[in-house]
Amino acid sequence: MKPIISPSILSADFAHLADDIEMLNQSDADWIHCDIMDGVFVPNISFGFPVLKHVVKLSNKPLDVHLMIVQPEKFIPEVKALGAYIMNVHYETCVHLHRVIQQIREAGMEPAVTLNPSTPVSLLKDIIHDVYMVQLMGVNPGFGGQKFIEHTVEKTRELRDLIDESGSHALIEIDGGVNINTGARLIEAGADVLVAGNAVFSAADPITAIEALKNL
Ligand code: DX5
Ligand code: ZN
Repeated sequence: MKPIISPSILSADFAHLADDIEMLNQSDADWIHCDIMDGVFVPNISFGFPVLKHVVKLSNKPLDVHLMIVQPEKFIPEVKALGAYIMNVHYETCVHLHRVIQQIREAGMEPAVTLNPSTPVSLLKDIIHDVYMVQLMGVNPGFGGQKFIEHTVEKTRELRDLIDESGSHALIEIDGGVNINTGARLIEAGADVLVAGNAVFSAADPITAIEALKNL
């Protein structure tokens, strides 16, 4: 089965965002990955709901919303109002992760949980049946264009085993440092979804770059 490709608009040209969304509409991209940051959980601030409201209007692809913020549960209504398909929260930001996951589902979105590079896969054992997707960070969150942390490949394998052994149907998404080379190894290790920012938006031909990831 072909991987799901979710280009991250963190690397888009914000002065010409409409053009980049239109490019994604024409491409093989399956979802649009939207990175929301708060300058607290991660050392950067990206964009928020007022910007994403316009992305939604222009896009014909489902939104994969990645919240790198503390207390993400406070924004369930805002993410829902966008019409997001997936609401993705960090394990490290949710003391009551089970409750947050249920609240996201009750709001009518698919819940996903993300692990930082230093958070072990084994911590997911008691939540793996409740999530639509697990996202593993291939870099420390906060910035696009960083170097891929090699250990993520091994972690992907470990997560694949946990999911298969538990009988869960959770998808595995990898975010950060994904390109044609790391992407191929991540898929071989069991990844289902690839997020790519720099590898798409810095490419000479982003449509071809997305197609190449899709055909890995
Ligand atoms: C990083 C973001 C990523 C970022 C990935 O904190 O969560 O989605 O856009 O960028 P690349 O693909 O350039 O590593
Ligand atoms: Zn992301």
